[in-house]
Amino acid sequence: MRPAEVYDLLNPWDASDEFYLELVMASRMVVDIGCGTGTLLHRARTGGHVGRLVGVDPDPDMLAVARATSDDVEWVRATAAEVGAVGADLVVMTGHAFQTLVTDDDIATSLQAIRRALIPGGRFAFETRNPRATPWLRWDGETLVNHPTAGVIRLTRRVREATSRVVTFDETFSGAGIPDAITVSNTLRFCSRSELTSLLGDAGFAIAEQYGDWSRSPVTASSPEIITIAIAR
Ligand SMILES: C[S@@+](CC[C@H](N)C(=O)[O-])C[C@H]1O[C@@H](n2cnc3c(N)ncnc32)[C@H](O)[C@@H]1O
Repeated sequence: MRPAEVYDLLNPWDASDEFYLELVMASRMVVDIGCGTGTLLHRARTGGHVGRLVGVDPDPDMLAVARATSDDVEWVRATAAEVGAVGADLVVMTGHAFQTLVTDDDIATSLQAIRRALIPGGRFAFETRNPRATPWLRWDGETLVNHPTAGVIRLTRRVREATSRVVTFDETFSGAGIPDAITVSNTLRFCSRSELTSLLGDAGFAIAEQYGDWSRSPVTASSPEIITIAIAR
């Protein structure tokens, strides 16, 4: 059992996916960067999207799940910074995938590639957790899920180090179906609104819409998310 095989059990379809699905269905060619197990593009295809759908992720285990689910979507193993000039009218980074870009250099290089992947006027939609809401203070804990073949899996999360910009935490997967517990270390970047404005502007984007939650409320200090739709200039 690999962590990618329980990803969808731990992250079921929710309001964030509905938000992005609406954007995807209204677009001709879509690139989902950090697509993970590919649920969004799979839903778009089965929901009647007839254009080009490309899922990009550097993790082979995630892509293996995506490929096993859909053979009518293109799946590409790459990072955001490696995406080519494909002429997309929408690029998305969902499930806080944008936060895996940790340094300013990572973000700048990735945003430049995303800008090149889009046609002028194309949209880049993504969300990042709001650092002012300090969500990592509530992350330590355990979640149980029931996997169809591996049985009950326990996910234990422990934050190891946190500043207002970068948070490192461990996730340990254990259970009867996992003889040796698997621990994965994650580091996420938390960008402020002003950092996002500047990084997006430098890469050739203008912010068109920004929301603090999935019901499209304005961003406030306590909003859980900073959801951004940026236009390629
Ligand atoms: C939390 S998952 C989100 C998956 C999916 N988008 C979702 O909404 O469920 C973050 C994904 O980002 C991917 N990732 C990590 N570093 C990346 C990078 N530099 N460029 C693109 N994707 C990356 C990971 O492999 C992982 O699949």
